[in-house]
Order: sequence, then structure tokens, then C-alpha cells
Amino acid sequence: MPRDLFQQQPQDKSPPSPSAPTMFLSESPNNMSSGPSSPDPANPEKGTTEQQRQFVIVPPDQWFQAHPRSSSLLPANLHPYVRPLTVSDVESCVALENAAFEDPNERASREKFIYRLTKCGELCLGLFTTVTPNSNPPFSSPTLASARVIETGRPSGDVSVLLAHIIAVKTTSHVVTDESMDLPRDWDAVNPTPSPLGHQERGRTIVLHSVAVAPGFQGKGLGQVLMRAYFGLMNGAGIAERLALIAHDHKVSWYEKLGFTNNGKSAAQFGGGGWYDLVYDLQPAEKRARYG
Ligand SMILES: CC(C)(COP(=O)(O)OP(=O)(O)OC[C@H]1O[C@@H](n2cnc3c(N)ncnc32)[C@H](O)[C@@H]1OP(=O)(O)O)[C@@H](O)C(=O)NCCC(=O)NCCS
Repeated sequence: MPRDLFQQQPQDKSPPSPSAPTMFLSESPNNMSSGPSSPDPANPEKGTTEQQRQFVIVPPDQWFQAHPRSSSLLPANLHPYVRPLTVSDVESCVALENAAFEDPNERASREKFIYRLTKCGELCLGLFTTVTPNSNPPFSSPTLASARVIETGRPSGDVSVLLAHIIAVKTTSHVVTDESMDLPRDWDAVNPTPSPLGHQERGRTIVLHSVAVAPGFQGKGLGQVLMRAYFGLMNGAGIAERLALIAHDHKVSWYEKLGFTNNGKSAAQFGGGGWYDLVYDLQPAEKRARYG
């Protein structure tokens, strides 16, 4: 639902304010019609079907206000969407990682991206936007060069550009360990040796090894959008019991605002150590309707 509209509950009988003309929407927004507060002022109920829902236009002074930085800097034509990542996204992920993490020691290697996206891409989520090549004003992102033409093959040659990613694996520990951040040497062999390193399919903790937003798009809410989309995917899915990650002290409050708990200093020594353990408890698996 658009943010500048709010739905009147059926039990709300208060008359609409004169400054808020009422519109009736059918089930399809394409059939929307506007007009007086009732199709027949003499009979307010007439013409109002079960399918119709009543909306009130919110006066401008009550509109949702985006964060000032967001509204002034985010390109108006940016329509972000998320999807799980696959190994075919590796070049964009590497470009994003290298641009987002200033300290090379904190970046995941290309090999780790290939490993994680191959083994458990379903745990990794990307936030993309569609860009028309040579658009004006020009679109700039470190991931533009590796963007792929979108599936519909539009004549304009639109490409899908990665702006943010979450890269994750599962572990049997409750927190991030150096073992979970590593990978088995022979992981791509036909019969790899069982190893405690890297992704553990039976693990109940999803460890987020990389959360990154492309520079130029940071501080506009995209990181939060991606994290909340991730919560939406994983909460109640039964895939794991918790999310875990490590962060430096200046990033801890960003995760706490999203609902993570700070469990204190981490034992992980990746990238020189000095990390804090953050954990987010996932909602348990929802009971699903049974069919057949
Ligand atoms: C950290 C990162 C993922 C955050 O994503 P983002 O899109 O820039 O953040 P958002 O715009 O969604 O954050 C919005 C809110 O968080 C706040 N915020 C941003 N950075 C913050 C920080 N370091 N600490 C606390 N709050 C922060 C903003 O002020 C804003 O708050 P508001 O909604 O109350 O106004 C992104 O900046 C990034 O990729 N940084 C480089 C890589 C990195 O450090 N990743 C994290 C590794 S642990």
C-alpha cells in the first residue's frame, strides 16, 4: 500500500474530513475511481460492495517523510528489489565487497564468494535496481560493469545492478567462528573430505559474513531494507534458529536498532580481530496449512 494512503478500518464510522476527499478502490487498482464520499449521498451504503475498500487521502502535512538524507540524495528512479544470489552474481558481489570495505583484510576473497554462492546461495540475498544504459543523468555504481541484462530482454537493454548484498553460510556454533569464515580446501572436489570449515548444512545458525551497501548508496536506508527483507525470508521458515555476525564497535548500534543483541567481544580473529558478537533470534517455524 502506498505510504501516503492509509486504510480506514470498516468499524471506523468517523466522517472524512473536508480536506480529505474519499476514493473507492476496487480489488484492482486499475479500476480505481474517485468521487464523492459515497456513490449515492442519500444512501451511504448503496454501491459499496464487499470488494470495495475505502481509502482516505492523507493531507500533505501528514505524509510519510523519508529521512532528509534519503529524500534529497536517493535517485527518484531507484526501485530496489531483492532476490537470492547465485554464483553467476559473483563478479558483482566481489566488486561490491571491494568497494564497500576499505580495509582489504576485512574483505572476503573471490574464492570465498564462489564457495558461498555455490554451496548456499539460497542463504545470500542481493538488492538490485534496474538501470537503462546511457541514462541521463548517468548512473554510477561499482557494480555497473558486471550488471547483467534483465531476463525480459527489453529493447532498451536494461540491466539489473547489484547495490547491496548479504552473504551467509550456516554453522553449528551459536556465534561466528573463524572456522565458519573459512572454506574446505577441496570443497569443489567430486568427493570432498568432511570438514568443520565453512558451510555446515546441519547448522542452526546463519552467519552473515558480509553485509554491504555500495558506496554512493549508503546512508539512504537500503541496508535496513535489505536486512528487513532477510528477516522476512528467514523468520518462521524453519531454516535456522538465529542469525549471527561480527561487527566493529562503531557498527554495533546499527545492528541493535534492527533487533540484534550485542553478546560482547568475539573470539573470531578474522581480519585482525576486535569484533563484537551480534545475534538475532529468528521466530520458530510456523505451522503450515496441509493440503491434500
Ligand atoms: C553498514 C552498512 C551495511 C549500513 O547500510 P546503509 O544502507 O548505509 O545504512 P542505512 O541507510 O540503512 O541506515 C540507516 C540508519 O542507520 C543509521 N546508521 C548508518 N550507519 C550507522 C552506523 N555505523 N552506526 C549506527 N547507525 C548508523 C543511519 O543514521 C540511519 O538511522 P535513522 O534511520 O535513524 O536515520 C553500509 O553502510 C555499508 O555497507 N558499510 C560498509 C561495509 C560495512 O561496514 N558493513 C558492515 C560490516 S559489519
